[in-house]
Amino acid sequence: MTGPESEGPQLRRAVCPGSFDPITNGHLDIIARASKLYDVVHVAVMINQSKKGLFTVDERIELIRAVTAEYGNVEVESFHGLLVDFCKQRDIPAIVKGLRAVSDFDYELQMAQMNNGLSGVETLFVPTNPTYSFLSSSLVKEVAAWGGDVSHLVPGVVLDALNERLGKK
Ligand code: PNS
Repeated sequence: MTGPESEGPQLRRAVCPGSFDPITNGHLDIIARASKLYDVVHVAVMINQSKKGLFTVDERIELIRAVTAEYGNVEVESFHGLLVDFCKQRDIPAIVKGLRAVSDFDYELQMAQMNNGLSGVETLFVPTNPTYSFLSSSLVKEVAAWGGDVSHLVPGVVLDALNERLGKK
């Protein structure tokens, strides 16, 4: 047999992009929900050389892999470049993003429209679980750095990594 039939059904793919420095329960909630909607969810750790992270890109990938392993259909990698190029190279038609509040919307809409204009890729917004609507990696790092309790905001392995990096244990 030749043609598309010989290649089997095409997998439905989506990407969850971000800096993930580090991954929080808010990110994880969006990735988990996307993993139920798509055959394969690619988590793309986008490299921004002008932003010095608390964790290296490899450390972020390792943490994301550890906390998403149970889903079975999540692939984690880093990418240096435009998100639309990541999508093109892997034949990914959809970007899944969490929206925490109206304040996220303006910038997310701009990026979604830019990405769609550049390559036709669609962006799907998932309303964040209200439990995490205030949550960001930056706030987690700030609170943790001052000794605040973030144990309910990040997975256990991330908490351990934060405590170690910040010299809290
Ligand atoms: O977790 P963040 O830092 O809010 O994620 C932002 C991210 C990485 C998704 C966004 O900056 C991005 O897509 N960067 C990749 C470079 C790119 O494609 N820029 C044009 C966006 S329209």
